Amino acid sequence: MLQLRDSNGPAAVIRRADYSAPAFWIDSVHLTFDLDPAKTRVLNKMTLRRNPDVSVQPLRLDGEALNLARVLVNGQGASFKLDGGKLVLENLPLEGTFELEIFTTCEPLKNTSLSGLYVSNDSFFTQCEAEGFRRITYFLDRPDVMANYTVTLRADQQKYPVLLSNGNLMDSGALGGVGNEGRHFATWVDPHKKPCYLFALVAGQLVCREQRITSRAGKEHLLQVYVRPGDMDKTEHAMHSLMASVVWDEARFGLALDLERFMIVATSDFNMGAMENKGLNIFNTKYVLANQATATDADFSNIESVVGHEYFHNWTGNRITCRDWCQLSLKEGLTVFRDQEFSMDLCADASARAVKRIEDVRVLRTAQFPEDAGPMAHPVRPDSYIEINNFYTVTIYEKGAEVVRMMQTLATEGASDPSGRAGFAKGITLYFARHDGHAVTCDDFAQSIADANPDSALARLLPQFKRWYSQAGTPRLRARGSYDAAAQTYTLNLRQSCAATPGQEAKEPFVIPVSLGLVGSSGADLPLQLQDGSTSSHGSHLLVMTQADESITFVNVAEEPVPSILRGFSAPVLLDFDYSDAQLLTLLAFDPDPFNRWEAGQRLALRSAIQLIASDALLTGATPLNDAYIEAMRSVLRHPALDAAFKELVLTLPSETYIAEQLEVVDPQRIHAVREAMRAQLASALAADWQWAFEAHAPNGAYRPDTVSSGRRALTGLALTQLCLAARDSGDPSTGSGQAGLWPGKAYQRFKDADNMTDRFNALNALVNSGHALATPALAQFHTLFKNEELVLDKWFALQAGSCDRGGQVLPAVRQLLKHPDFNLRNPNRARSVIFSYCSANPGAFHRADAAGYVFWSERVLELDRINPQVAARLARALDRWKKLAEPYRSSARQAIERVADKPELSNDVREVVSRALAD
Ligand code: PHE
Ligand code: ZN
Repeated sequence: MLQLRDSNGPAAVIRRADYSAPAFWIDSVHLTFDLDPAKTRVLNKMTLRRNPDVSVQPLRLDGEALNLARVLVNGQGASFKLDGGKLVLENLPLEGTFELEIFTTCEPLKNTSLSGLYVSNDSFFTQCEAEGFRRITYFLDRPDVMANYTVTLRADQQKYPVLLSNGNLMDSGALGGVGNEGRHFATWVDPHKKPCYLFALVAGQLVCREQRITSRAGKEHLLQVYVRPGDMDKTEHAMHSLMASVVWDEARFGLALDLERFMIVATSDFNMGAMENKGLNIFNTKYVLANQATATDADFSNIESVVGHEYFHNWTGNRITCRDWCQLSLKEGLTVFRDQEFSMDLCADASARAVKRIEDVRVLRTAQFPEDAGPMAHPVRPDSYIEINNFYTVTIYEKGAEVVRMMQTLATEGASDPSGRAGFAKGITLYFARHDGHAVTCDDFAQSIADANPDSALARLLPQFKRWYSQAGTPRLRARGSYDAAAQTYTLNLRQSCAATPGQEAKEPFVIPVSLGLVGSSGADLPLQLQDGSTSSHGSHLLVMTQADESITFVNVAEEPVPSILRGFSAPVLLDFDYSDAQLLTLLAFDPDPFNRWEAGQRLALRSAIQLIASDALLTGATPLNDAYIEAMRSVLRHPALDAAFKELVLTLPSETYIAEQLEVVDPQRIHAVREAMRAQLASALAADWQWAFEAHAPNGAYRPDTVSSGRRALTGLALTQLCLAARDSGDPSTGSGQAGLWPGKAYQRFKDADNMTDRFNALNALVNSGHALATPALAQFHTLFKNEELVLDKWFALQAGSCDRGGQVLPAVRQLLKHPDFNLRNPNRARSVIFSYCSANPGAFHRADAAGYVFWSERVLELDRINPQVAARLARALDRWKKLAEPYRSSARQAIERVADKPELSNDVREVVSRALAD
């Protein structure tokens, strides 16, 4: 047998412009697996034919970490070459189909990268997206080669009673004969053609929750959720989410389940969230398992989104897939948009929908905007990549979803469909009519949506709109308003620009849908009338900006309004408007658009933060927030008509990461100190109100993870954190009150008594992050209670690694956590819970003047890279924004990155990230 190298020399750049169709098509694949953890044997029998549209050339099959035993063409031994990891066959038949049989082995137990075939908790799993199938067998590992699959799994019956693959179970039973004692088999046939990245198998000791459903068309389907035997009591929510997903996709888009059987399987060793393999989704346990004792409200809502997301891929991704990996957002941006809409449509009311929108925008702005401004900035449809695994980014996913959302907004053809929802759904129908069963491009998608709505702005502006796919960077929109009291007109000037990004110096103007309203002094929207006489009945007007500079004038404006710009965050841009404090307070109090109402509060807080950061004022005892802001926050908190979930969002200050993004030069310690001062001030100034909020939203009835009751828990959790903070600071006689000191004790009591993980964890969080002494016994008890619950232990680790730094104690604590018997670097969830929580989610603790945080980072990147390059490369990105740092952070961060880059043995994954970070 031949042992091949895992890596094939320096990595090449893959360019979208170099795309060419495959020289061969693979019609069918018959795979037979003899599953053994140490050495699994894979027999791959394929039927191939030449692609008549491509010149005659050798067949070059991808392969990685495989041992090759045999190659037969039409049953005969054939000559072959191995070239840089590829299996190359020449002299293949020129006409018709031929059979190619390849026999290889691989070593699942040694596969720590979790790509290809691997073992987790004594079961077998596969992960093939993007390029893992080549670690299972030699293949044309590219998404535009779609084949029919028949898969036979053979394994020990006792150890692996459950044998699963894509499609329908055709046959199963005991295996007979010498050498096969105690072994059994199962044969699965997938009725749909698919690219190899959607292949999956699972084998192990698993149990499942089942549900039979009937579709609107009267078809029967079997839904299954497979988990380890002890986890059955945590499967109900995932199953409900799956059923809701099936119903929703049929109702909103007319897309029905096309499979008799749809399976979800959970594994605790998984690099990402989940994977949409055809009919056999494989999930990180984090996005399947939940019950009230172990999962928080956020976990419940994430499970709903991720189950929906993977299910929705069955159409957007699987039925129509990507031509090449530069088109990744074709399936990911669209499917994130779909899962966002799904979660919103499950909301009880408009307020809950707005909360979901704010949460989604918060992710976009705290994660994607920095990416778009940093060394890894890339267009939604990248022009090139080195390691495709590095391009599963917030740009492809979240910005991609915003691009799809704008297409929906712009697909409106008038008053009968103001939101564009109906037009967009028509576009989706046309997209499937044209491309079902094919591998296509982002252009094909956009064209379908536009063609289905010929009278829409999207159709009119399509070529320009597609700059959202080709240009990286976040556009900045600068708006100025002027009111002419005599003429009763209000004019808004808008100017757009976009900073240079790597490889893209100059940018052309984008199509920016700007949703606008004018808020009057009474707090209501003023009627909108344009100069040309047209009116807008909704209180909002959609301005579709296409030029670098534009203005719009409203007439018959009776009083000077406060403009509410970019309602609902109608485009993924940065908006500058020189609001006065008074104007922002008006919007915060009254804007009928809940997004901009929330945004007004964020702007006010940001403004105070930035002022204090820029000053040289001492921070001890600082009170950065002015009285008007405090009073406005009190009004929101006490507001009789606002929902608790919305209040919690308004009362939460902008994150340190978000504040940092607004600054040219970033001193993470000063940002941290200023934000802490603001938190402390809100805590003491509103102490009585927090107490009221805590009591007024006490648990009312049995636990349910719905939006209303989870909003109440979120608000009481924030209140408790604030009350514990105030208690810590109440040594100061000016804010001290006899009551305050009782709160840590109450938090501890809540921690012990809570009947659900949300309240329990919020109480623990309040103690840990106020630095109270009761945190120590509470953490110990939490560990004892949940020592057998891996996902809860992840929370326990993450809470400590992400906790508020007071004098540098977090890093030594993190180093201790790495030595904890429950720590395991090989498990991505556990590695993330400690290392990422510290390096990526705790800037105040990570950016240390003594550089020790960066040293820790470089050690972990190198250590992880030898185990799992994909996870290591994500960690490598924690220092993406090093160039913005103030000294001494900047220099020591650069040195840390250079230390990593200097290692010759890096994976392509980490190499690409650190090289980009260091590029000029
Ligand atoms: N395609 C998966 C999703 O978004 C993500 C994923 C990518 C999972 C690569 C594993 C590996 O749903
Ligand atoms: Zn996806």
